[in-house]
Amino acid sequence: MSKQIIVSAPGKIHLLGEHFVVYFAPAILATVDLRTTVTIARCHSGDSDILSEDTRIYSGKDSGQARLVSDESERARMTEIVEPIIKKHLKIKTIPPYKLEISSQIPIGAGLGSSAAISAACIAALLSFLKVKWDLNLINSLTYEAEKVFHGNPSGGDNSTITFGSIIRFIREPKTIKPLGINIPERLAQNFVLINTGKPKKSTGEMVSLVKVLREKNPQLFNESLKSQTELAEKLLPVLKSGDSSKFIKIIRLGEKNLEAIGVVSKTSQKIIRKIEKAGGAAKICGAGSTTGPTGIILAYHPDKTKVEKIARSYKLPYFSTTLGVEGVRQE
Ligand code: PMV
Repeated sequence: MSKQIIVSAPGKIHLLGEHFVVYFAPAILATVDLRTTVTIARCHSGDSDILSEDTRIYSGKDSGQARLVSDESERARMTEIVEPIIKKHLKIKTIPPYKLEISSQIPIGAGLGSSAAISAACIAALLSFLKVKWDLNLINSLTYEAEKVFHGNPSGGDNSTITFGSIIRFIREPKTIKPLGINIPERLAQNFVLINTGKPKKSTGEMVSLVKVLREKNPQLFNESLKSQTELAEKLLPVLKSGDSSKFIKIIRLGEKNLEAIGVVSKTSQKIIRKIEKAGGAAKICGAGSTTGPTGIILAYHPDKTKVEKIARSYKLPYFSTTLGVEGVRQE
């Protein structure tokens, strides 16, 4: 490649508030130290390969090392979603030919915001390639446009966390993206384990639609869970600062109960979560979840994390630990 621009974006987890955030409850989200990296460079007339032949995509299956995956959908993401959004915003008709390479450590479709991270990194890279001044607010709003194409009715929490980084309190309306400026005390931070139960059978958009149906059918149940989740999100903030382990466990357990009440946690994942709770810890699904089978990432906490790791191994599930609250989209 000729002169390259490299941009990276992190993944994210919901500490609390997924699904309810779509209906204006606050969510507490944190970036995770797994990144999507996009390299973009100009293609010259002599080059045989332009974007459509040379978008290479790598992705980490569980975490860690990036590896090559199918690039068809990502090529479509660029040409059918990202490019039109950027052209419309900049009021331009064409974009000079470029080559693009995406590599990602973020497991796809696991509730870690892989889609928003790829969109944010691609948008930031393409804006930089077009010599547009680095502007996180612009990257965030254009990434939200891309998310809408994928999900239909996204809250905007994923793209905001991934773009601005750290740990944030997010409310959809009135729009609140508040970095909490917290360094989670070590006794909490060092004892998180992310267990990957596998890619859910349903997409985030499908799960959001399913919850919409449940909310219409049973508004009382939904509103009670939403009220509880709102209170829990407020209670979580001082606990994240103090690092009070038993209060944290209590809040995460109740948060998980609310997600189960709205039907987004499969029986398979409920079993694993009950085991972790019985061992003295707490665990919850992260992201959209699923009604059956794998639900993506389970966020687990135990004052002695080896207990959680043992449970993950007993189910033969990959697990890893990661730093929370890392920097958002950045130029490398
Ligand atoms: O599964 P993910 O990483 O796409 O997270 C989705 C979070 C939801 O609250 C279910 C949807 C949203 O737009 O906030």
